[in-house]
Amino acid sequence: MEQIPVTLTVNGKKVQRFVEPRTLLIHFLREELNITGPHIGCETSHCGACTVEMNGMSVKSCTVFAAQANGAEMTTIEGMANPDGTLSALQEGFRQMHGLQCGFCTPGMITRAHTLLKENPNPSEEEIRMGIAGNLCRCTGYQNIVKAIQYAAEQLNQPETQEAAE
Ligand code: FES
Ligand code: FES
Repeated sequence: MEQIPVTLTVNGKKVQRFVEPRTLLIHFLREELNITGPHIGCETSHCGACTVEMNGMSVKSCTVFAAQANGAEMTTIEGMANPDGTLSALQEGFRQMHGLQCGFCTPGMITRAHTLLKENPNPSEEEIRMGIAGNLCRCTGYQNIVKAIQYAAEQLNQPETQEAAE
């Protein structure tokens, strides 16, 4: 099949490949770039296990063609840790609050939560639950995922709080 050129930036690294027009972004990430954190949990765009951040938005990469991502800036779970290798507030929150069990939904869940906290840095419990409604988890019952996101929001808001207190 005819291949078309695609250039995009993933986790700060520019990549250039030729892809078939039908190649899904999730397959491109996993099979071509070996970015295997984002997962595939369904064929109907419900589960959100494939969630990545594309041009600042949460996107289910099973429902985008790689060719449509041409020129995009993308972040996956692999790009979440701090540059010094320590965990991001969200990753730490999921660990501390036991927001994962099998871990299969976690890359999508954390990537979604990352974008959610940019959209709404101080969400209520209801806003968190609504904000991750596109991400299914079969293990946790969500309660500890909510706590993990609250933990991260608190951590991320801390410098401001300190500044305000000064
Ligand atoms: S794999 Fe389920 S929404 Fe993408
Ligand atoms: S931790 Fe298993 S699906 Fe969420």
